[in-house]
Amino acid sequence: MLVQTLKTRRQTLAKLLDRPVILWSGDRPSRNFPANKYPYRASSHFLYFAGIPIPNAAIHLHQGKLTLFVDNPRAGSALWHGESPTRETIAETIGADAAYPLSELLPIEFPSDILVLKPSVWATDALTVGLIDKMREEQCYSLDRSVNTPDSPDEDDIALANAIVMLRSQHDDYALSEMRNAVEITKQAHIAGMKVTKTAKTEAHIRAAMEAVIIANDMTTAYNSIVTVHGEVLHNEHYHHAIEPTDLVLADVGAETQNGWAADVTRTWSASGKFSSTQRDLYNVVLAAHDAAIEAIKPGVEYQDLHLLACQKLAEGFVDLGILKGNPEDLVNMDAHALFFPHGVGHLLGLDVHDMEDLGDRAGYAAGRERSDRFGLGFLRLNRPLLDGMVVTIEPGFYQVPAILNNVKNREKYRDVVNWDRLEQFNDVRGIRIEDDVLVTTTGSEILTQGIPVTIEQLESQT
Ligand code: GLY
Ligand code: MN
Ligand code: MN
Repeated sequence: MLVQTLKTRRQTLAKLLDRPVILWSGDRPSRNFPANKYPYRASSHFLYFAGIPIPNAAIHLHQGKLTLFVDNPRAGSALWHGESPTRETIAETIGADAAYPLSELLPIEFPSDILVLKPSVWATDALTVGLIDKMREEQCYSLDRSVNTPDSPDEDDIALANAIVMLRSQHDDYALSEMRNAVEITKQAHIAGMKVTKTAKTEAHIRAAMEAVIIANDMTTAYNSIVTVHGEVLHNEHYHHAIEPTDLVLADVGAETQNGWAADVTRTWSASGKFSSTQRDLYNVVLAAHDAAIEAIKPGVEYQDLHLLACQKLAEGFVDLGILKGNPEDLVNMDAHALFFPHGVGHLLGLDVHDMEDLGDRAGYAAGRERSDRFGLGFLRLNRPLLDGMVVTIEPGFYQVPAILNNVKNREKYRDVVNWDRLEQFNDVRGIRIEDDVLVTTTGSEILTQGIPVTIEQLESQT
């Protein structure tokens, strides 16, 4: 399946672009001294066309053909690293049309019309960065739409970026089967986290139980796990807090397969195994927003409308609970919901957890669209009509972020629409997020992460 899939991907690329392309896999960066390496993660654009991670390699794509450039393992390498596949074996695995040592690529005079993409500098050795620098100088560092002018000199490389966005936005069967594998392990990891919570002393214990499942399945995390009783810190990467029975535990943990495909799931559960009534009330508001947004997914729907639908449901729930005052639609228009839900409802998912965000907003935003400067819309990462084959996350939340709620300007602007005394009664809720991964199908949607406990009853029965 892999070889045929890769062939189809490069043939599709050839239909979109008739120019040759070079993509680099990147090398392993070191931790302070050369022999101590960080785990290897190939560039996602490389992975898309090469299928498997191959350190320090390049692929040349042209007219549907793939030429691999990689050196054979060095003599003596087996002593430290074990047997590594030869260039010929790798070439066969990925269905390369030809394969040469990397050293034969480096001196090549590249044709002036060759297209390149900015390498992830963290993953690319100085040699390849230097080479691409020479080829493209500043151009390859300015693919982010926000810094391009229409006639900027990297227009051609942008054509490559746009073609890759088209290809990678709509997943093929192989990609989906990889993502389903990542989802299955992610599901087991979340259940393990729920089950260990009652005996866990700190967040680190819960994180360990969750990541143990991922590691035991020979996968890695697709991003740094968030496992915290301070869910109001959106990307919290501290794990030292003690677990108190009155806490909610927010776990945003996703597995990544060996070939780089990601899952991205958040669940929030009660540390004691029983939600308090205030936790229950707010959880169900977030769940209603989550369900409504997922329910509305189908091709052609604007993702921003899903975001606004979730905001509307949140505002309705906050009004019902007496936290906000007024008409929910008006409250959303004035971004009052964003006091408690300051981020976007989700993003594209694929080889990267925020898929293709290395290209700025090029993948997330339809051509001609730019980020809003509205408080309630500015952090939206995806703003384009949905297409079948896309996988998106839906991840509404409720957060009590002191920096937002105590901000003097916010206090003034939202003075009449927030019942601050009522809000006080919900102070055992610092952060709730519920996140699922959803495939857009030709007729609607499929929740890939279905089956991970999500209702209060399901969560309570696991903890
Ligand atoms: N795991 C990061 C996010 O949900 O966007
Ligand atoms: Mn996400
Ligand atoms: Mn997440």
